[in-house]
Amino acid sequence: MDTVILGAGAAGLFCAGSILRADGMEGHRVLVLDHAAAPGEKIRISGGGRCNFTNLASVPDRFLSRNPRFSASALAGFRPQEFVALVDNAGIAWHEKMLGQLFCDGSARQIIDMLLHRMRGAELRLSTAVEAVTQHGDGFVITTSAGPVRAGRVVVATGGRSIPKMGATGIGYDIARSCGLDLVEPRAGLVPLTFAQQDLDKCRPLAGLSVTAAVSHGTGRHRAQFRDGLLFTHRGLSGPAILQISNFWRPGDEILVDLAPDIDIAAGLREARGQGGRVGISTALARWLPARLADAVALECGLQGARLADQGNEMLQRVGARVNRWGLRPVGSEGWRTAEVTLGGVDTRGLDSRSLVARTVPGLYFIGEVVDVTGWLGGYNFQWAWASAHAAGGDI
Ligand code: FDA
Repeated sequence: MDTVILGAGAAGLFCAGSILRADGMEGHRVLVLDHAAAPGEKIRISGGGRCNFTNLASVPDRFLSRNPRFSASALAGFRPQEFVALVDNAGIAWHEKMLGQLFCDGSARQIIDMLLHRMRGAELRLSTAVEAVTQHGDGFVITTSAGPVRAGRVVVATGGRSIPKMGATGIGYDIARSCGLDLVEPRAGLVPLTFAQQDLDKCRPLAGLSVTAAVSHGTGRHRAQFRDGLLFTHRGLSGPAILQISNFWRPGDEILVDLAPDIDIAAGLREARGQGGRVGISTALARWLPARLADAVALECGLQGARLADQGNEMLQRVGARVNRWGLRPVGSEGWRTAEVTLGGVDTRGLDSRSLVARTVPGLYFIGEVVDVTGWLGGYNFQWAWASAHAAGGDI
């Protein structure tokens, strides 16, 4: 084989197409290997089955990496609009949900079909596990569950560790290490955080309730904040705002939740008190919060049934802080089982940013999630898969 691509996920399928659709590459022999029974399994379940296939604002600062500039070249070489053009050409209807996030109107399956059509001419070999890659003369030998495969070039597109049930393995990291590349410790990203009993006791009674919240982590230059949906669950907190902040959170850190991002609750309560204040605290809070949440905050502050008029400024300050600056110290995350992505991965110092080829191993490429480049929630991770695949495909 001229090129063997390891992994028939988003990056691998796109790379096969990028190689074969390039000028003068028609005769190039491309093989895509995957141990799964079907290609693109994560695409199929992505975006709630509708695949959030890109984000129009895919700029490097939406990606986490030890080298924050590494993604710039590949992202500039293949922009979201270029993927949209492919989607349009394939006749796939789509819509913008919010903040540049583009979703299929119909099934995510359409994206997989488009990618498979685009890579026509390549061979796709499924149910074949990759076990190792070794350098051999000018090329490589790939050890697989179906025997050895020889290749002139190898593209590692085996993804990260997230959701082992869907076929994720750490093989890409093993290959990188065996070829002398460094790793940035992989860890679960875009994942619900878990909480100690005292915080769970506050969340559980509110399970099912969702609010728009601003969730932040860190201070100063290192502060990250996301304003999005927050969902109370039986296990704690979830929803996009929590998944986003999980990328920045480290064990031991606190996160701050503002449950009413546009309202200064203490000031609002003082004003309401000045206008009579005969109502209860819960009723006053319910002007800005869902009634169940308003009741829970009043109860937690020891003000169940208490009248607004009877509260001093200090108490209103306390209630305000509980809503606008709710400090929580997660004890962990749900881990690989539910993480949407893997942070960390192949250290970008070992890769050329324009082609994604390993600097010390000519012919060996790493693309997609296996690389230490991880996007925010919202279509950024697929855009990285397409862009990095395009960069490698163009180089091959
Ligand atoms: P990907 O994981 O897609 O592919 C890797 C392939 O390698 C798999 O097919 C796997 O079977 C194969 N493989 C692994 N080990 C192997 C071995 N030893 N031998 C052979 N094959 C092996 N992103 C986004 O931008 N928008 C979205 O809407 C979503 N939604 C979403 C939902 C859920 C539930 C998850 C889990 C993730 C998302 N994502 C997302 C993230 C997105 O799915 C992810 O970033 C890309 O799929 C990464 O593409 P890769 O091709 O790099 O890895």
